[in-house]
Amino acid sequence: MKALRELEADFRRAPSAHNTQPWTLTYTGTGAVVGWDPERALPVSDPTGRDLRLGLGAFVETCLIVCASAGLRVGFRADPGPLRVGVLHEAAEPYRTEFTTADVRGRGTNRGPYHPGRLPGDLVPGVRRVACRDLAALLHAADLHQFGDAAVTAELREWLRLTPRHRRYDLDGLTDRALALSGAEALGLRAALAVYPVLRRAGLPRVLAAAGKGLLDYDGEALVLVGPPGEEVEMGRELMRIWLTLSTRGYTTHPLSQIIDSPPTRALLAAHLGVDDPDSLLHIARAGLPKGAAPRSARIPS
Ligand SMILES: Cc1cc2nc3c(=O)[nH]c(=O)nc-3n(C[C@H](O)[C@H](O)[C@H](O)COP(=O)(O)O)c2cc1C
Repeated sequence: MKALRELEADFRRAPSAHNTQPWTLTYTGTGAVVGWDPERALPVSDPTGRDLRLGLGAFVETCLIVCASAGLRVGFRADPGPLRVGVLHEAAEPYRTEFTTADVRGRGTNRGPYHPGRLPGDLVPGVRRVACRDLAALLHAADLHQFGDAAVTAELREWLRLTPRHRRYDLDGLTDRALALSGAEALGLRAALAVYPVLRRAGLPRVLAAAGKGLLDYDGEALVLVGPPGEEVEMGRELMRIWLTLSTRGYTTHPLSQIIDSPPTRALLAAHLGVDDPDSLLHIARAGLPKGAAPRSARIPS
């Protein structure tokens, strides 16, 4: 499908955890199979594939929006199998959406400071809300858990690009700029991660986790996506619609998945929200009006 291929650069603006861009599109005569590359999954930090499937759902929604914006009649049929989630196929009508390719291009994660204030009450119905300050202790505990785990930290390090000299700086992963790090902070993090295997037992995880302190110390809020475990692809589509609803109104998001990744903090957050099954917490991100623009994140060219 030549028409689809020509839109791939915009499909690829979809978000993915650690910016791994795990999706694959295998073109058939009439459409394309949406799958993923296991080399771009995060088996250690995302062992259940929750974030992988959320990201693939966000990718599917992005493809449908971009196709509709180009006037193409394309739909999606879930058809899970090994290394695949479904098929983009010819449809009778273009996908019905309020969003456009320009909206897809305009969205981005923003990890910088946010203005105090809450989102309008009815902007994202169905999503749970938590005051940032109520999450600060959970975030710190989750960061300690994450940086205390050598395998999780090693996997994260694989996807960090903390200097523009990194050979994949413009392609994928998380850059110093995307992480809103100053030059000194990026240098410090590189140095700390280089000595991590030696200093892990000497308290380095505590030093790394301390970097996130203060992030939630303002009058803002975080959004929590709750949904049935097993429906992550559909919920990823919903997540993309939520992010676009926000970004088209000037709001941005900063995911804090470590709170849900770590079982103790996931359970505490579920209790705080009155949610019975902690595994139904699928995603959490602070959201609001950012004080400054974030850099555009890298993508592998199509
Ligand atoms: C399912 C999912 C989980 C994510 N978790 C985190 C996270 O825990 N922390 C973070 O800073 N960004 C997180 N992100 C944001 C990605 O890192 C981001 O989408 C990616 O780097 C591409 O950047 P962009 O959103 O600006 O296009 C997540 C994104 C997705 C789709």
